[in-house]
Amino acid sequence: MEGWAGPAGVVAAPMAGGPSRPELAHAAGRAGGLGFLAGGLKSPAALEGELDVLDAMGAAAYGVNLFVPSTAEVDRAAVLAYRERLAGEARAVGAALPEPRWDDDDAYPAKLALLTERAPAAVSFTFGLPAADAVAALRRAGTLVLQTVTGPDEARAAAELGADAVVVQHPDAGGHSGAFLDLPAWEGTLADLVAAVRAAVVLPIVAAGGIGTPEDAAAARAAGAEAVQLGTAFLRTPEAGTNPVHRAALASDEFERTAPTRAFSGKWARGLENGFMRRFPDAPAAYPVIHHLTAPLRAASVAAGDPSRTNLWAGTAWRAARDEPAAETVARFAG
Ligand SMILES: Cc1cc2nc3c(=O)[nH]c(=O)nc-3n(C[C@H](O)[C@H](O)[C@H](O)COP(=O)(O)O)c2cc1C
Repeated sequence: MEGWAGPAGVVAAPMAGGPSRPELAHAAGRAGGLGFLAGGLKSPAALEGELDVLDAMGAAAYGVNLFVPSTAEVDRAAVLAYRERLAGEARAVGAALPEPRWDDDDAYPAKLALLTERAPAAVSFTFGLPAADAVAALRRAGTLVLQTVTGPDEARAAAELGADAVVVQHPDAGGHSGAFLDLPAWEGTLADLVAAVRAAVVLPIVAAGGIGTPEDAAAARAAGAEAVQLGTAFLRTPEAGTNPVHRAALASDEFERTAPTRAFSGKWARGLENGFMRRFPDAPAAYPVIHHLTAPLRAASVAAGDPSRTNLWAGTAWRAARDEPAAETVARFAG
């Protein structure tokens, strides 16, 4: 287990939707960190293609992240009512609103099978717990299994499941919350959260969420984290596949704050607060149904260079993110 997050103890977070392309995972790994591919809502063929690219680059160790599908019932009437309310938004960017897709990632079993066969150095899960036999199969294949948790109860559940380590995600984190038990969200600092999880389980901890400075990373390590995981800090690096509208928004002084929203995907996620988020503070809890519903209008907004109707995921420390090679980001946060 020693040094599994690289000698730097810095994990370049899995970031679905484009940022975590093989170039970023490779650069983070080469710089002494651990890079990740994002397998959430990706087809097995697309994920396999990224694994092939990363292997062809000669990447030694890297991780892959998966979203665990939800079994929760979706309120279909609420989704259809939300779809009606989005009509004007779609019209404004010349996009069509698709019919709702009610499934939650039918391809998850195929991706699990692929990863068990390819056995990357690490696989992390978020949004819920995988089945115990999936964890056991990955571990038998030599893969380290990490579980994203947002509080001590979730950490205990991960330990019972047989995970090798936990990614402890604070609500300041950019992107979706991985919360599945610990609601409402943790109210103290990331260091407090790490200490609380440290007291609950004996597993190694990767601390994530709102880390903007080396001092933030040091505080998380001092509280008991073996490594830190950063997402937002890598979004402006040239190796990240962050779309140009998102990249420009992170650098602009147009945005005043980040906020949690369900408006884009139907699951709480933190992003730079824009007009779409302000107009739909009460979107229903229906992930990934809302994600698919808003996908064409988000894509049209990006194509038009307009940051007002697309998700701009960012953690609270977004202003500290730099346009610098990913290797420099790894070096700045090395422990
Ligand atoms: C653009 C973006 C996409 C993300 N996508 C994923 C993902 O696919 N899987 C995941 O486990 N976490 C995802 N996250 C959350 C990160 O793993 C991590 O918890 C978070 O970035 C840490 O907070 P920070 O952004 O303040 O550094 C994403 C975060 C961002 C900013």
